[in-house]
Amino acid sequence: MSKIGVIGSGQMGNGIAHVSALAGYEVLLHDLSEERINAGLATIDGNLARQVTSGRINEQARKDAVGRIKPALTLDDVSDADIVIESATENESVKRKIYTDLCPLLRADTILATNTSSISITRLAAATDRPERFIGMHFMNPVPVMELVELVRGIATDDSTFETAKVFAQKLGKKTAVAEDFPAFIVNRILLPMINEAIYTLYEGVGTVDAIDMAMKLGANHPMGPLQLADFIGLDTCLSIMQVLYEGLADSKYRPCPLLVKYVEAGWLGRKTGRGFYDYRGEEPVPTR
Ligand code: CAA
Repeated sequence: MSKIGVIGSGQMGNGIAHVSALAGYEVLLHDLSEERINAGLATIDGNLARQVTSGRINEQARKDAVGRIKPALTLDDVSDADIVIESATENESVKRKIYTDLCPLLRADTILATNTSSISITRLAAATDRPERFIGMHFMNPVPVMELVELVRGIATDDSTFETAKVFAQKLGKKTAVAEDFPAFIVNRILLPMINEAIYTLYEGVGTVDAIDMAMKLGANHPMGPLQLADFIGLDTCLSIMQVLYEGLADSKYRPCPLLVKYVEAGWLGRKTGRGFYDYRGEEPVPTR
């Protein structure tokens, strides 16, 4: 395998492109517009520069990685990839539409992977022409830093697809954990109810934003507080994962907190929109409640 197609140049897609290019793969990066692709490329540039500054990679590795990423303005431009990783927004109909448009353009042996953080792999695979060569590869944010990739087989995923995805993840320097195809897999099945509970804790007035985040950072040794982490993941993504858990497992314990719904309705989606549980528009993040 030498050519990797990445669909979606947002925070996950640009991270996947970044680590693939650093590992020596040619990367074709696609998004809906040239503007979005360029924004993804600029983020990759910034993150690679950060790794040079901290001595994790050298300048030549940065230059080589940048040179390996090509913008793919149309889906046709990713058609000769050996594996395509779809990292579009966490919305099933958007993903299905991509597969419908993309599959006829791909070679028969190309593997199609999705970075979905919660949606059924089996159901997504059924929307493609290649369920046996379809697999979930769930990367964590920030992709260049986080060591894990969850591998999720759909009911039809064949052994060679699984092995190829596993070896690919390892070549990116990641460790893999195998999750069964149940709503939100392993990481988000555990992490998102904790974040949702933190939002209930805020909603019920048990603590302020600062108190909740400090409590979990210093009291449970988490690198980020749960509200800070929610803003980092994106509140729209958090809500859609909670909805998948709530609907998929039909258990009221996964009910999304009304305050999370309110923030998403306001368009306060966290860091990416400049405001969530914190306001990021000034020098320092300031709690919004
Ligand atoms: N690209 C490259 N390097 C990055 C980076 C990025 N995007 N973000 C951070 N780094 C590097 C920094 O340069 C720094 O490198 P050195 O150690 O070499 O100096 C290192 O990571 C640590 O960063 P900082 O010093 O800036 O800050 P920090 O110590 O607070 O770490 C963090 C930042 C790694 C994000 C840390 O806060 C953390 O681990 N947070 C939790 C992240 C997490 O839980 N992610 C999972 C989210 S869930 C998910 O992704 C699944 C889903 O589907 C929703």
